[in-house]
Amino acid sequence: MFGKRFTYFATCAPGVEPLLHEEVRQLGLGRPEQQVGGVRFEGTMPEAWRANLWLRTAVRVLRREARFECPSESAVDEGVGSVDWSAFIEPTGTLWVDAQTKDSVLDHSRYLQQRVKDVIVDQVRAADGTRPSVDRDTADVRVHLHLYRDRATLSVDTSGASLHRRGWRNSQGRAPLAETLAAACVLRSGWDRRGPLLDPFCGTGTLLVEGAMIAAGMAPGLSRERFGFETWRDHDAAGWASLRDEARDKIRIPRKLRLVGHDIAPDRLEETRGHLDGLGFTELGDLEVADARAFAPRAGWNGTVVSNLPYGERVGDRVEELHGDFGAQLKALTGYRVALLTGSSRLAGLLRLSRAERHRILNGGIECQLVTAEL
Ligand SMILES: C[S@@+](CC[C@H](N)C(=O)[O-])C[C@H]1O[C@@H](n2cnc3c(N)ncnc32)[C@H](O)[C@@H]1O
Repeated sequence: MFGKRFTYFATCAPGVEPLLHEEVRQLGLGRPEQQVGGVRFEGTMPEAWRANLWLRTAVRVLRREARFECPSESAVDEGVGSVDWSAFIEPTGTLWVDAQTKDSVLDHSRYLQQRVKDVIVDQVRAADGTRPSVDRDTADVRVHLHLYRDRATLSVDTSGASLHRRGWRNSQGRAPLAETLAAACVLRSGWDRRGPLLDPFCGTGTLLVEGAMIAAGMAPGLSRERFGFETWRDHDAAGWASLRDEARDKIRIPRKLRLVGHDIAPDRLEETRGHLDGLGFTELGDLEVADARAFAPRAGWNGTVVSNLPYGERVGDRVEELHGDFGAQLKALTGYRVALLTGSSRLAGLLRLSRAERHRILNGGIECQLVTAEL
């Protein structure tokens, strides 16, 4: 069973695909292919475990179960019914179905969601006499139906909750950057994983934590409580535990690494401190309450500044001024790399960085810009 190969689709935020593709390639997963919104690859179930445990920029990993022409309701019944759901779901278990449809005869995603659920539930009940129940938040099995031009792809979600939920965050601050996007910013910055990593708007420390995890070779999913496949009926718990043990053995915390975090809000810095402590990175952190408009790190330090500037509407005009002031501070730095995430190309322009590259990234539906440059 565990030698059987499957096709997977690891999803990510639009704009992050090339970084995820590189991660999939480096993990040695089979036949990676970059697509819109994610990366397709092939492999056995243990390879899906590795993808879930190690991919830093992926949001979820879907395993394809069936593809079929789907111009009618009876085609849904037949296609969904062709999968043996008893391999996944206990009769007393819980289920959730997501459906998307585009340019197809069946154009009601809610209806499709319901229909797919009914077919699965009926199949399980016919075999075991009990029907699984529906649970949106903590379902044991999550199923995705994607319909495009009357062609359906039916997948089970191997991840469960989104992979940005790593398990290291103590609380959800006001606007923490998603861990998956933070990892993308650090990877895109070109940081060498040895020089200092600086975040002058560090908030809850997401970028510093993700950077430290990369430098320490710490699998992003190690602190997570549960992945989707763990509640599947045929899950091999012993094999999965040994993969996690191997990942734990790989951690090497680089004691000389400096993580410099500033913020004007002391309570945010306390959160950052808590996060670094929780992962064993306490001694790497240099955290200070400071205004980024006076940001002036040591000259010739060859550091990398990776930061997510405030760009929320609530802060209004001050945000524009802040971008200008902070950009002017950066002008005085030499030998530093920067990767700065901000909310629009107008704000990115206000930084006035010369020879900068811009990368478009969608952050929770907002079109953001990641500006990278060598100063
Ligand atoms: C978008 S949030 C950063 C979120 C952070 N990446 C995280 O994941 O938690 C921006 C942060 O900038 C801080 N901030 C706002 N103005 C600042 C200033 N002038 N100097 C330093 N920090 C500032 C805010 O307190 C907030 O924590």
